[in-house]
Amino acid sequence: MSATLATGSDTLMSGVRVADLALPDQMEVTPTGGSLGAIVHGVDLADDLPGEVIGGLLAVLDHAGMMILRGQDRLTPQRQSEVTEWFGRPFFRDTGVDNMAMVGRTPVQILGSQAHDEGDVPAADVDSGGDLVPHSDVQDYQVTPNYTILHAIEVVPGSVGGNTYWANLYQAYDELDDETKALIEGLRWMPASTQATAYGVGMQSAKASVSRDGLSLESPVRHPVVRTHPVTRRKALWVSTAFTVRVEGVGDEADGKRLAKRLKTHANSERFSYHHAWSPHDVVMWDNRCVNHWREGWPADTRRTMHRSQAGSARPF
Ligand code: OGA
Ligand code: MN
Repeated sequence: MSATLATGSDTLMSGVRVADLALPDQMEVTPTGGSLGAIVHGVDLADDLPGEVIGGLLAVLDHAGMMILRGQDRLTPQRQSEVTEWFGRPFFRDTGVDNMAMVGRTPVQILGSQAHDEGDVPAADVDSGGDLVPHSDVQDYQVTPNYTILHAIEVVPGSVGGNTYWANLYQAYDELDDETKALIEGLRWMPASTQATAYGVGMQSAKASVSRDGLSLESPVRHPVVRTHPVTRRKALWVSTAFTVRVEGVGDEADGKRLAKRLKTHANSERFSYHHAWSPHDVVMWDNRCVNHWREGWPADTRRTMHRSQAGSARPF
């Protein structure tokens, strides 16, 4: 459920007011009233949009953390891949054990049973339809995607599952006590390895590589516990339940795991979160640099299909 920090106000997650973004008249932007996110009206992503509207969308997403555009029923996979490129170079997993299914030859991924349909390019990853615990995307990589875009193609009623949640990690950082802020400043954490992650979610090619080479749980990747957003320069508590194995630089391994657990529990507090029940052709975009997300599973006999793309990437600092 949503917290109500920004209710009735014009203020986005970063603290910037919508009015201060000087958006073109065509764009109507309403903060969700929850702890993050904004709803954008007046923009059909399939249209040939003027640069000031595209620039406005980028600005809203950087300050809102998450952005919802409803009714995008003219958005083809090809157009989604073009829209994605406004946000930077498209991002793909690429180690060979973790590739995802694609919509035909278009560089847009499929989440859901649609991955089995004719013409789609199959991959190791078929969405299990299970719960996903809080995470920011692809934290098993050192250079992580800035943005993720989901276009809902087939949905299940929110009452049976499939709802997605996002959490405001600026707020999670801000609400830490001063002692904890001082403790974690400059610390880094180690994520689960890509192989362990892919194996954990049942990807076929990861199973093959684990049976050949064994399972390596140590990762060479290290991420900052406190991540600074390059646009807003706000600090986020950038830990996740899915990926964060242990914090380093605080005693022994057990201490590092204990601190990771404490920070994750805090970051997962309900008051930082906002949830969305999907309708067909909702497009939701989020900023992996300052929000976590998670979702509920859905019954095996129902179909939920998302077209998914990611863009922009950076080494977190
Ligand atoms: C993702 C993800 C959430 C969902 O695409 O990265 O976590 O609702 N999906 O399917
Ligand atoms: Mn995700």
